[in-house]
Amino acid sequence: MNTFSLSQKNALITGASRRLGAAFARALAAADCSVVLHYNHSAKDAEALASEIRAQGGKASCIQADLAEPAQVESLIPRAVAQSGPLDILINNASIFRETDFSETTASSLQENIAVHATAPLLLSRAFAAQQRCGAILNMVDARIADYDQQHVPYHLSKRMLADLTRIMAVEFAPRIRVNGIAPGLILPPEGKDETYLKGLAHTNLLQSFGAAQDIVDAGLYLLCAAFVTGEILYVDGGRNLRGKMYD
Ligand SMILES: NC(=O)c1ccc[n+]([C@@H]2O[C@H](COP(=O)([O-])OP(=O)(O)OC[C@H]3O[C@@H](n4cnc5c(N)ncnc54)[C@H](OP(=O)(O)O)[C@@H]3O)[C@@H](O)[C@H]2O)c1
Repeated sequence: MNTFSLSQKNALITGASRRLGAAFARALAAADCSVVLHYNHSAKDAEALASEIRAQGGKASCIQADLAEPAQVESLIPRAVAQSGPLDILINNASIFRETDFSETTASSLQENIAVHATAPLLLSRAFAAQQRCGAILNMVDARIADYDQQHVPYHLSKRMLADLTRIMAVEFAPRIRVNGIAPGLILPPEGKDETYLKGLAHTNLLQSFGAAQDIVDAGLYLLCAAFVTGEILYVDGGRNLRGKMYD
């Protein structure tokens, strides 16, 4: 099997201070990859995670940017490279997840979601590719894109853009850079909710269960290392995407 080694590589992870982004950062650092932890508001969490990684012998630094602001997005890759050296891996993980149904969707909610979930990944990935190095990009999508998520319309639409972008960028950046995505299902409860939320929704997938951050990390490490795989979106959702109501 062809593999892309993570050892001695340099990775930028957006939204890396907590939750799934932090799980990716810990896993990459454990694989001997140097990590740049991007954050927006969670400076303390990002610094604490960087210290934890360094205390275990890994390499980590932090960088701040608001990905809803295109000017800040444009400068993020050059700043990260100046801070930590050329990048080999980019994980577009940062996300907003607000309840907004169709009637509540406004131009600004749509614009903000598209900025964070589609414009930022496009601009960051293009700047990443402009380094003229080989590498791998991982986009965090969502298993909900297979259906119609009526409670999160701007999120749904913008994550669908990210899914399309994954395939578009796989074409645009080949053969030097592979671009893949993960579509997680029920993994972590949204902010402010606990495991009861996950248990209450377990019936919505075929396996009647919910996943863990490690399931996403394992899928992500596979896609980052799989040197003959590009343009793929791997659903890690207990089969939820096969039960889409909209397309029944
Ligand atoms: N958790 C799940 O079960 C699940 C399910 C399906 C899909 N996903 C996808 O997997 C990824 C990770 O999920 P998660 O739940 O760990 O993510 P999350 O906690 O919702 O968000 C991760 C980080 O995104 C950053 N962010 C939000 N708006 C930003 C902005 N304008 N500029 C810069 N950073 C911004 C925040 O950073 P700060 O805190 O620093 O502000 C936040 O900590 C997301 O893309 C999500 O859509 C997750």
